[in-house]
Amino acid sequence: MTTSPQDVAELGTDPLATKARDYLWMHFTRYSGYYDGVHVPVITRGEGCYIWDDQGKRYLDGLAGLFVVQVGHGRRELAEAGAKQAEQLAFFPLWSYAHPKAIELAERLAHMAPGDLNRVFFTSGGGEAVETAWKLAKQYFKLVGKPTKHKVISRSIAYHGTTQGALSITGIPAVKEAFEPLVPGAIKVPNTNFYRAPEDYRYDEKAFGQWAANRIAEAIEFEGPDTVAAVFLEPVQNAGGCFPPPPGYLERVREICDHYDVLFVADETICAFGRIGDYFAMNRFGVQPDIITCAKGMTSGYAPLGAMIASDRLFEPFKHGTTTFLHGYTWGGHPVAAAIALANLDIFEREGINAHVQNNEGAFRRTLEKLTDLPIIGDVRGAGFFYGIELVKDKVTRETFNDDEAERLLRGFLSKALFDNGLYCRADDRGDPVIQLAPPLICEQAQFDEMEQILRSVLTEAWSIL
Ligand SMILES: Cc1ncc(COP(=O)(O)O)c(C=O)c1O
Repeated sequence: MTTSPQDVAELGTDPLATKARDYLWMHFTRYSGYYDGVHVPVITRGEGCYIWDDQGKRYLDGLAGLFVVQVGHGRRELAEAGAKQAEQLAFFPLWSYAHPKAIELAERLAHMAPGDLNRVFFTSGGGEAVETAWKLAKQYFKLVGKPTKHKVISRSIAYHGTTQGALSITGIPAVKEAFEPLVPGAIKVPNTNFYRAPEDYRYDEKAFGQWAANRIAEAIEFEGPDTVAAVFLEPVQNAGGCFPPPPGYLERVREICDHYDVLFVADETICAFGRIGDYFAMNRFGVQPDIITCAKGMTSGYAPLGAMIASDRLFEPFKHGTTTFLHGYTWGGHPVAAAIALANLDIFEREGINAHVQNNEGAFRRTLEKLTDLPIIGDVRGAGFFYGIELVKDKVTRETFNDDEAERLLRGFLSKALFDNGLYCRADDRGDPVIQLAPPLICEQAQFDEMEQILRSVLTEAWSIL
């Protein structure tokens, strides 16, 4: 490709940003702005809760990268664990062979996972884990004589990944539209956004939870129990802005799944590894799923790794005869990633990361709740170190912004203003407009205060320009 005079000028000031614009295809990225003079932010370094760009400017990492960097940036110990493994055995697949780090990690995860979730199938990320879980559910029911059970139920506005199966489970129409038709048989039910609960349930969280869970039973009845294989849900739903499960909700989902012989898949791609203050959020909520999918925080992002963890019952039919789960990924359980995950879990234990989240989650919530005095803040919700702040046009009526306003507010102003003011986080309108915060799990009051102060100043300005 040729270089224009404008490129030459930009190359002079920020060559990486210009090359990023011209050669890199960034994910989920609208490119037009980058051709209208906005520079691609280039992050070059991280230390603890902070990251730096290629101009040397520091930012608080309010999203742990992408809900990933649990133990913080710049941990030499994790880099060294990866290097040591690469030297000894850089790669071997898990296709009929095993290697020590994958074995050790599988055993450790099985001990951490709730109940009899003892069988670990490694992937390279969360979407692959979700994909794997749906395929397992389908094959499992074929093996136990219920071959018509193949559909899945998930919740509206939930994000479960981008591969065609996982995207079918995803409940965000705007993300799916361009790729329709997707895999058939993926049914959607309401999520647990209590702030947007139907009027009758708005003041009774428990009743709302029962109502929402019962929509799953209704969908199973409607589709035909003989056709439904699994329910996928996050313990705390990310997209839409952190919807915790109302009291009794997960228990009721478990009951419904048992009643209809439907598998309960907890997608813990974000929630696992300390985000909600335990290795698995389902441990904290005390409800037993049939499958957990997880990824992100398993390595704190020092290498890519995901997993589907299935119960002994689901693995049982695969122990016999010629039965095989004909499914796998070259990178699943990569030795370097597995070694890093083990070292990451060592840090969790040594530094008491889960206890730190439990001891500080109240302070995090209280600090963010200070923002509710601003007219633009409708709701602050979440759990652990995982929060969403919903923005509204009218606090009393809970009126939200129309599409144009949301576009101007989130893309036109907030994302950039927050970043310019030193806070990397996410302004999101996959449901109603929200700001999402999920910092490294080593954050303390000083970082909570820094987030609150930057948010206060930027959101005050946002209100004034609306
Ligand atoms: C709940 C959930 N499931 C699945 C995924 C997809 O994970 P990945 O991007 O690793 O494929 C994500 C990603 O954010 C997620 O949040």
